[in-house]
Amino acid sequence: MMKIITLDKTTSTNDEVKKYVEDGQSVAVSATVQTGGRGTKGRTFISQEGGLYVSFLKFYNNLLAKDAHKIVEQTAVAVVKTLRAFGVDARIKWVNDIYVNGKKICGILTENVFEGEFVKYSVIGIGININNEISGDIKDIAISTKQVLGKSLDIKAVLMTLVFNLEQKQEDGPYVRYSCVLGKKIKVVKPNGEEYFAKAKDILPDGRLLLDNGEKLSAAEIKINIL
Ligand code: BTN
Repeated sequence: MMKIITLDKTTSTNDEVKKYVEDGQSVAVSATVQTGGRGTKGRTFISQEGGLYVSFLKFYNNLLAKDAHKIVEQTAVAVVKTLRAFGVDARIKWVNDIYVNGKKICGILTENVFEGEFVKYSVIGIGININNEISGDIKDIAISTKQVLGKSLDIKAVLMTLVFNLEQKQEDGPYVRYSCVLGKKIKVVKPNGEEYFAKAKDILPDGRLLLDNGEKLSAAEIKINIL
């Protein structure tokens, strides 16, 4: 099993784990609290005590840059398997969010570093709402395992299960199977503010979302709402 470094407090475990790049070995850093937790698209990720905040530094030998989307996909699958092992019926909202009952329980932030046409390494940050209180302003959109299960979980046990699942060989199938987007009507919001409705039909082998109008969406800048 990979080495896991546990801290009481840090700005962001994603930044903390980058300090180990020179070592050239996979390692994980988790923290009880993050003071500068980061989400995708430059957003803040609230990281109060009681949640699981962990980042993995993972090196790759022959992962092509065009297949880099698989990193977040396989991470999402490992998170879903982990939450299900604790009785939480989690699903993946394309592309990097994990949802339960229409609310977000986990976010994933991957930062990939490329060398030529290959991925050299990736920093994979995972934040899961476990026993932490969900503050008033995000109550409608976020949920914790404590709310789902009606009891606290041992955060370390969740972390160990997550590490186990991340280290398993992953197939491509479960990412589509665990999706809570496919077959649903969604609202697509483009960076220029354009909005429209469509049905999510499939997730293509290249990671893009296929809509019933034939459009293929890339994850980068699109925001989707499930209706
Ligand atoms: C998102 O929802 O947009 C992604 C959130 C990712 C949060 C995790 S918590 C551990 C790691 N450290 C960070 O600063 N962010 C990730």
